[in-house]
Amino acid sequence: MNNLPLPPVIAIDGPSASGKGSVAERVAAYFGFHYLDSGAIYRLLAYAALRQHVDWSDAPALSTLASQLQIRFEHGEAWLQDEIVSTQIRSEQMGKGASEVAVHPAVRLALLQTQRNFRQAPGLVGDGRDIGSVIFPDARLKVFLTAAVETRAQRRYQQLTQRGEDADYALILADLQQRDWRDSQRTVAPLKQLPDAMLLDTTDKNIDEAVNIIITAYKKAAQID
Ligand code: CDP
Repeated sequence: MNNLPLPPVIAIDGPSASGKGSVAERVAAYFGFHYLDSGAIYRLLAYAALRQHVDWSDAPALSTLASQLQIRFEHGEAWLQDEIVSTQIRSEQMGKGASEVAVHPAVRLALLQTQRNFRQAPGLVGDGRDIGSVIFPDARLKVFLTAAVETRAQRRYQQLTQRGEDADYALILADLQQRDWRDSQRTVAPLKQLPDAMLLDTTDKNIDEAVNIIITAYKKAAQID
C-alpha cells in the first residue's frame, strides 16, 4: 500500500454558461494542474449514443455504453475512439443530450471512475455540477461559480455568434432556464451550492477577475505564498 497523499483538487461547480470551463482551464494552467471538463464526458456519451442509435432515455443501454466509452482529451481536442469529435460535441444539441443522459443515476455511476482517473499529480481542476459533492468530496477548494441567468444567456449568445452560428437570445434564455431546472431538480447529484463551497457570482465580473479570486483562495487554502 502506498500512503502518498492524493493530488489536490480544485472543484468548480455551477450552472450552464457560468464560464466554468474558461475559468477552470485558466486556473489549471496557472498552477500547472490537469483539467477535467466533466460536461465534455456527458457530451461524448450523448454523442456516442446518438451514433449507436441508443436513446438518451434508455438508462440501462446508456450505462453499458458509458462503461465501454473510449475517450481521451489531448491537446485541447476530445477523442472518441480514434476520432476527434470536439466540434460535434460542442453543439447545442449535444448540450441538451448531455443534460438528458446525465439525469440517470446508473449513467453517473458508470462515469464516476472515468472522472476520478483524472486526478493525477501535481493536481487537478475539475468543473461540472457534482465535482465537489460526489466526484471529489475531499477537494482542497470548492467553488460555486454562477451568474444571473440573463447574463449567462447573453454570454452564450455572444459565444455562438462569434463562432458564426445562428443564435436567438430568447431561445437560449429559455433553454438555460430549462437546463437549470433539470440540473437542480434531478434526484442524483443535483446542482446546488455546498455549505463548504465558496460562492463566486460573476454577473459583474469578467473572466480574469474570477480566475484571480480562485487563485488567491486556493493559495490561501493550500498555504502557498
Ligand atoms: O455548462 P453547459 O451546460 O453549457 O455544458 P457542460 O458543462 O458541457 O455540461 C453539459 C450538461 O451535462 C449539463 O447541462 C449537465 O446537465 C450535465 N453535467 C452533469 O450533469 N454533471 C457534470 N458534472 C457535468 C455536466
